[in-house]
Amino acid sequence: MKVYLDNGATTPVDPRVLREMLPYFTSKFGNASSIHQFGQESKEALEKARKQIARAINASPNEIIFTSGGTESDNLAIHGVYKGHIITSSIEHPAILNYCKHLNHTIIPVDNYGFVNFDKFEKAFTPESMASIMFANNEVGTIEPIKRLAEITKSKDALFHTDAVQAFGKVPIDVKKLGIDLMTLSSHKIYGPKGVGALYVKEGIDIKPLLRGGGHEFSKRSGTENVPGIVGFGKAAELAVKDMKKDNDKLTKLRDKMIKSLLEIPNSKLNGHPRERLSNNVNVSFSFIEGEALVLNLDMKGIAASTGSACSSSKLEPSHVLLALGIHPAEAHGSLRMTLGRFNTNKEIDYVLKQIPEAVLKLRRISPFR
Ligand SMILES: Cc1ncc(COP(=O)(O)O)c(C=O)c1O
Repeated sequence: MKVYLDNGATTPVDPRVLREMLPYFTSKFGNASSIHQFGQESKEALEKARKQIARAINASPNEIIFTSGGTESDNLAIHGVYKGHIITSSIEHPAILNYCKHLNHTIIPVDNYGFVNFDKFEKAFTPESMASIMFANNEVGTIEPIKRLAEITKSKDALFHTDAVQAFGKVPIDVKKLGIDLMTLSSHKIYGPKGVGALYVKEGIDIKPLLRGGGHEFSKRSGTENVPGIVGFGKAAELAVKDMKKDNDKLTKLRDKMIKSLLEIPNSKLNGHPRERLSNNVNVSFSFIEGEALVLNLDMKGIAASTGSACSSSKLEPSHVLLALGIHPAEAHGSLRMTLGRFNTNKEIDYVLKQIPEAVLKLRRISPFR
């Protein structure tokens, strides 16, 4: 049996999305900037997708800029409005943290669940500040109180950006109600194609482009638009909202079944918050073993999962997210992240829940840490 439980890394393309995309690789191949019929056909498809994305987050189409993905949108958001100081959190994606390294920045710590410290956040503002706090964390699934963080930012007359790559499609997002100024989205986490993303920029906010050229995307992101990809992203966003309740009901049940069962393994611990977490996220640490060894063992059984540790050049470093949550490095090393998706079944999860305890037991038997 093959079970894909790494939907936080990327999702398969939904067949309904692929169907929409296919004509834009063949007969409808025009450049959306061309004035002939081929071009206009692509332009219409591009604008339809812009409307679909906008509708999914209660924005206006002219507030959506298409990019090459979450990483570019994160970089563009910061580059676009940075005035001299950025406030971010210790558990952000590298697309934020590595960009901030080159800027004047303040990193706000999080508590044991991954919630940003309000008090330190509020005190970090200077007249030059902007803030960027992720909507939901990609490793432990913690959902941040975005409305409150945006309110604090507004009270300081600053701009608020959120990376909603993981939250989009799982948490209802209304940018107006939440008070978000800029927001990052990515297509390949919501059953759309890879290499496509968007940045929501609230009307009236002027951003400085990263890519300059022919003036595409309201002169905010030059480069010929990836029309098939964008068409797929639009459809995926429409489906994400339409199916959100159905998907979440199913995912939450599977997630909770997995968490309950895995915590019956002695010396195991859930990472992140038990309830304020993404419907598809399971992150558990097993003492005395290496997460990588567990991932490889599961891979041999056909199960695709990931670990909290990142392989960095020569040494294995525990995840910066787990360490920020105050998890001991040894425990962080023994973490396993499984992210469910729309196409997982109960039968698959039963199989996984049979394989994991066996793999953990086997690895503990040979563990030098016991
Ligand atoms: C929270 C978060 N932000 C940004 C990204 C980067 O997105 P992309 O792969 O589209 O560049 C990811 C992808 O893993 C993510 O999980």
